[in-house]
Amino acid sequence: MAAPVTVVDHPLIQHKLTLMRRTEASSSTFRMLLKEISHLLAYEVTRDLPVREIEIETPITKMKAPVLAGKKLCLVSILRAGNGLLEGILELIPSARVGHIGLYRDPETLEAVEYYYKMPSDLDQRLVIAVDPMLATANSSVAAITRLKEGGAKNIRFLCLLAAPEGVEIFQREHPDVPIYTAAIDEKLNEHSYIVPGLGDAGDRIYGTR
Ligand code: PRP
Ligand code: URA
Repeated sequence: MAAPVTVVDHPLIQHKLTLMRRTEASSSTFRMLLKEISHLLAYEVTRDLPVREIEIETPITKMKAPVLAGKKLCLVSILRAGNGLLEGILELIPSARVGHIGLYRDPETLEAVEYYYKMPSDLDQRLVIAVDPMLATANSSVAAITRLKEGGAKNIRFLCLLAAPEGVEIFQREHPDVPIYTAAIDEKLNEHSYIVPGLGDAGDRIYGTR
C-alpha cells in the first residue's frame, strides 16, 4: 500500500491559496502568500518529528525540555518554483541542509529535463523533504525523487501546494514509500497538462516571467 497523501486544508491555507489562484495576484503578492502558506505546510510535514529532553535552566528553575531529536533534515528544492516554498520552510528550520535539483518540464514531451543537481553528502542519514509547488503529470517530482534515491536518500517526503489526481496516482505508483503533503488536490489536468482549476505556471507567477 502506498504512503498516504495528506491534504493540509487548514482554513488559513485555503484562504491564502484562493488569493494566489486569482489571475490578478501580482508576483510579489503571489510570492508573499506562497511563503506564508509554506510556514503552515511546514508545521504539518514536520508534525511527527521526534523530540528528546534536555536539561535547561530557566530564570526560575531547572527543567527538562524537549528539543528536536533523531534524523537531521535536508530540504530539497526542485528548481525553480521549489524555491518559493523553500524560503519559508528554511525560516522555520534554519539549521536544515539544503539541496537543489534543477528540472524543467519539456513543453512538447512533458518529460522532466535535469540541468542541475547539488546535495549534501550524507543524504542517506537525513530526512529529506523535497518541495515543489506543483504536482501535475508527476514527471518532475517522480524524476526528482528517483534522483534523490540514486543519491542515497532513504527517508523522503514530498511537499507541494497543488496536485492533480492523475499525478498523485502516478507518483504513488512510482514511489509508494514517499508520503505526499499538499494544500489541495484539484480536479484534473487539461490538454496541456496544466492543473485545472490550478493557478497557472507556478514558476512564471513567482518570478514574473512568461
Ligand atoms: C513546474 C512545477 C513542477 C512541474 C510540475 O515546473 O514547478 O516542477 O512544472 O509539472 P509535472 O508534474 O507535469 O512535471 P516547470 O517545468 O514549469 O519549471 P520551473 O519551476 O523552472 O518554472
Ligand atoms: N506546472 C505548473 O507550474 N503548473 C501546472 O498547472 C502544471 C505544471
